[in-house]
Amino acid sequence: MQHEMQVSILKELLQQLDDGMSVDAGVQYKNPTAFYTCPDQAQKEWALFFRNHPQLIGLSGDLPTPGSFVTTEDFGVPVLATRDKDGQFRAFVNACRHRGSQVATEERGEASRFICPFHNWTYSPAGKLVGIPREKDFGKIDRSCHGLIELPAVEQYGTLWVHPNAAGKLDVDTLLGDFAPEIESWDIGRLHYRGVTTMDKRLNWKLANDTFGETYHFSRLHGSTLNNIFYGDALAYEANGRNHRFVFPSRSIDLLRTLPEDQWDMEGMAVVLYYFFPNIQMTVNKENVTIFKIYPDKQDIGRSITRVCNYISPELQESMDTGARVVIDETNVYDQETREGGDEAISPEAVNEIVNSTLEQEDYYVGEMAQKTVASGALEYMVFGRNEPALHHFHTNYRDALGLPPLEQL
Ligand code: FES
Ligand SMILES: [Fe+2]
Repeated sequence: MQHEMQVSILKELLQQLDDGMSVDAGVQYKNPTAFYTCPDQAQKEWALFFRNHPQLIGLSGDLPTPGSFVTTEDFGVPVLATRDKDGQFRAFVNACRHRGSQVATEERGEASRFICPFHNWTYSPAGKLVGIPREKDFGKIDRSCHGLIELPAVEQYGTLWVHPNAAGKLDVDTLLGDFAPEIESWDIGRLHYRGVTTMDKRLNWKLANDTFGETYHFSRLHGSTLNNIFYGDALAYEANGRNHRFVFPSRSIDLLRTLPEDQWDMEGMAVVLYYFFPNIQMTVNKENVTIFKIYPDKQDIGRSITRVCNYISPELQESMDTGARVVIDETNVYDQETREGGDEAISPEAVNEIVNSTLEQEDYYVGEMAQKTVASGALEYMVFGRNEPALHHFHTNYRDALGLPPLEQL
């Protein structure tokens, strides 16, 4: 992100903290709760936003070498994504062309061949059918037209996108909109995959998504957790198309008050979170990216799966693996060996752990309660405040995409 933009955002946040006023969208909306429980609506969402919509499956670091692969079934089509021997990112329907068994059964790994467990038809990482046992018995097969079914797949700006429909269109610049140059500037393609946490929860995917839509709850719901690290009731918000950028301050932002602006850096001072319609939340800094991917359960409207994937820089990985000191910035030095640091010091992994446990035990705890409420039909609408512009934006775009009338003002 350009320095000028960083300074502008940091100034906006400091101003809000000084004024004791959060972001102001200038309007309040009513959000009908039926959209968290309506099965017809869920069918439309599934078809439009998941089964036939480009999906961010991860970052380049998920496929670090030729032969690396990952699999997913999160959006309805079993997908096998590979890096072939030439380094090309590819995606296929993870289904054998003989009788449909999945050819890759692990979530991730390395393989020079994918051998179907049923009758051992064998495919290359480029999807070619390269082996058929006892072909003399089975009969001749034209291998050139019985490779794995290839899906549109694009690796750009360090992100990996797949379209679950073989005939679908995939244009990453269109998907990222004006945020594309900013995403490119973070250079996240160099990060290594660190791990995933899966949360299987009793709440509709939109309620899970909504928890990322404001900082109003930080000091209340997260009073003894995230509130110790971040300020709530402050938010630098920018919508762009169906996406948005959502930046909130770390408590260390106060250190900037005594520094000249040309030395200001977002790193360690604020959390930059991008939202990509419909279901991706991604926090980004130079050393550490977390992607929150939120998926509906196709059968159960009151259930969703959140996959929280972490990626870290090679330098940070090495420091952590060797137990060396982790220097996040000059104000945030954490010693892995002694597990000690200055007042501002906290390891990135410790932050990730706090964020994950907070999301699961606090955000999704209240979200599951809200799901019970909306399922009862006893609450006609929720209210989105002036300080919750990301909720206005998501639900406005959601409704627009489904051809629904706009949200009504309170
Ligand atoms: S289903 Fe794959 S080899 Fe038969
Ligand atoms: Fe939260």
